[in-house]
Amino acid sequence: MSNVTISVRFRPLNSSERRGYDDAICFQALDAKSFWFTDEKEDDVLFCFDKVFYPDCGQADVYEFLAMPIIGDAMNGINGTIITYGQTGAGKTYSMEGPNIFDCDEHDKGLLQRVVDGLLESLKSSTDMAKCTLKLSMVEIYMDKIRDLFDLSKDNLQIKQGKNQEMYISGATEISISNALEAMRSLSRGIANRAVGETQMNLASSRSHCLYIFLVQRESVTDGRMRTGKIVLVDLAGSEKVEKTGAGGRILDEAKKINKSLSSLGNVINALTTGKTSHIPYRDSKLTRILRDALGGNSRTALLCCCSPSPSNASESLSTLRFGTRAKLIKTPLIAIASEQKDNIEKTTPNNSHDRVLENLRMHLSEEDVDLLEELFMMKGISFDPQSPEDIESAYDDVTFQIISSVQQAVEDLRDMAEQLTRENSALKAENNALKAERASHQMDLNHFNVEEMPSFFGIITIGIVMGIIVFSCPLFLLLVLRR
Ligand SMILES: Nc1ncnc2c1ncn2[C@@H]1O[C@H](COP(=O)(O)OP(=O)(O)OP(=O)(O)O)[C@@H](O)[C@H]1O
Ligand SMILES: [Mg+2]
Repeated sequence: MSNVTISVRFRPLNSSERRGYDDAICFQALDAKSFWFTDEKEDDVLFCFDKVFYPDCGQADVYEFLAMPIIGDAMNGINGTIITYGQTGAGKTYSMEGPNIFDCDEHDKGLLQRVVDGLLESLKSSTDMAKCTLKLSMVEIYMDKIRDLFDLSKDNLQIKQGKNQEMYISGATEISISNALEAMRSLSRGIANRAVGETQMNLASSRSHCLYIFLVQRESVTDGRMRTGKIVLVDLAGSEKVEKTGAGGRILDEAKKINKSLSSLGNVINALTTGKTSHIPYRDSKLTRILRDALGGNSRTALLCCCSPSPSNASESLSTLRFGTRAKLIKTPLIAIASEQKDNIEKTTPNNSHDRVLENLRMHLSEEDVDLLEELFMMKGISFDPQSPEDIESAYDDVTFQIISSVQQAVEDLRDMAEQLTRENSALKAENNALKAERASHQMDLNHFNVEEMPSFFGIITIGIVMGIIVFSCPLFLLLVLRR
């Protein structure tokens, strides 16, 4: 059984789709799991998924199918991830937040509001737990940088690998939540900080991938065990055809980054499902690196493929559906999740660590049996040996990744600088040409002066000299005549 559940959601037609295509739709429902899809360019295609939400399905249906099992697991220390995927304007953010995170009626509440309610309810009803805490972090991956939406000064957070090989975002702000109102206030503050822009396809298009991270910790009254479960809700930015969204300038730069990271996600899913390669390219983007646990088996994952029902968007919907079909082939044995649960318990309960168990066993068993058990613990990944080759390999991987990232960053900076210098150079050239033109026109004026004004200038001087000679020579001539 796969740990990845794939559902499809068709939103209702919007007004421009109704205008252009006369209420036509591109699918024909068969049942709650399958439908025929019509694309003008191809024959009808039959699709089957774990669940299909047609346009008349409500937000509560989506929550019950996708999120309720994940909340139950999180209470038992098993991590869960819900990802919304699809074309821009297909209803990903609506499925997560509803029309408005803070101000919407019960019927329209999105996954976020319902997950908060569900988690708080489950924590309240767990009577055998001494201490329960719920924490929330919100980050976005914008232009391939991770920004903390609760603290915008943290604009380049790093992804790290924990002792149990799990991925986490180092330094992200965590806010404790004790009631729904508090949670909604925090969520709405974070959402207000998210990068959103207007395109021809969506007035409030998400320009970043947003991650809502809920951390549930429960300490048992009976054995003092601490269980930690993480639920990550991922609202992806939509894939875009630039000619349809009318993107230019900043919006175009954002679209390029969005499309690039989504194609990395597609490559990871292809690598996970073809079985042809042992290398899964998680490191190709921040998005795939952070989703490694969700796709690689350390989490129960639900993917919601959001589609427009309109024939005008049929080719984009078809590619979303093909993405979902491919993801359905990901097979991760549940044993990976079970060992994650053990790891979680071990990691958070130092008193109950394997050392204490082994010590107790030593009192009852022979030294040899205890050594064998310890080896078994190691094999199952229950204990953590900092000197193990895996640990060294992971540290090496991290350093390599950091070096590659910083070199890539440096290359990008250099490219920016080269572009800037080229722009400045062109501006200087233009200025230089303008100066040259000005100087040439001055030169022409001067030439004009030389050619046309010079004779009259010399004429005046010649007349002056002649007059001077006459004035000076007249008295001299008179003097000479008088002497004689
Ligand atoms: N199931 C639905 N019922 C009613 N309205 C919906 C539904 N899904 C989406 N919408 C409306 O469609 C519009 C686009 O939806 P949304 O913003 O969720 O798209 P998106 O997939 O997040 O797009 P982007 O990738 O650009 O962020 C919004 O106005 C939203 O209210
Ligand atoms: Mg969105």
